[in-house]
Amino acid sequence: MKRKIQRAGMVWAVLALLSAFVCGVQNRQAAIPADAATEMRETAPLIALTFDDGPRRDTTTALLDGLAQRGVKATFFLVGEQIVGNEDVVRRMDAEGHQIGIHTYDHVRLLGLNRSDFDAQVDKTRQLLKNVLGHDGFLLRPPYGLYDAGVKNMAGCPIILWSVDPEDWGHKDADYVTRHIMDNASDGAIILLHDIYPTSVDAALRVVDELHEQGYLFVTVEQLFAEKGMKLQNGEVYRYAGAQER
Ligand code: NI
Repeated sequence: MKRKIQRAGMVWAVLALLSAFVCGVQNRQAAIPADAATEMRETAPLIALTFDDGPRRDTTTALLDGLAQRGVKATFFLVGEQIVGNEDVVRRMDAEGHQIGIHTYDHVRLLGLNRSDFDAQVDKTRQLLKNVLGHDGFLLRPPYGLYDAGVKNMAGCPIILWSVDPEDWGHKDADYVTRHIMDNASDGAIILLHDIYPTSVDAALRVVDELHEQGYLFVTVEQLFAEKGMKLQNGEVYRYAGAQER
């Protein structure tokens, strides 16, 4: 009888030790901040801000200042003729980690162009950017989002459209533009704005602050697709990082 009680006591002691050990392990795991950070990055919604028609020295510089303060990277689709004289602004974009793309040389429709007319818009801008930045690898956004088989064949790079368009060029109203983007933001979305209007710069920075509060992370177009496991192909058209049927 006495031996039985001793054995039961030992069993309880072992159980108590075991449970203390298990709880300790659980508590230790919960306290590791690195795990929490990894999980947050894996589950945080991602979104890309894109800006067309620039650079324009005053508004683009104000935007770059605001993005730098917030640690946000964006993507700029530049018009070739506006790069001339603004080379320092373009180099700053690149140096600060933003992605740069082509929006033609003269902001023209690319539909139905022959090879030399197409090259005079897209390749001319590509060569100019190569000279200014010393590297290659620029995405294309055709003006007005217009493309045909010729554009796809001659692009020589992925074609990036958008999934959220507040038509900021028409409204020129920071409140409206901010509200439209907030109502339509989603994981994997690509937002279209124009960094040549002060109202669009205001709206972009307000959207960054509001979406940061919701846990969104802002990434470049290239990072957005890479994080979603999608490989961008030359001559293919992308509207957002997800299934493209929308
Ligand atoms: Ni445009």
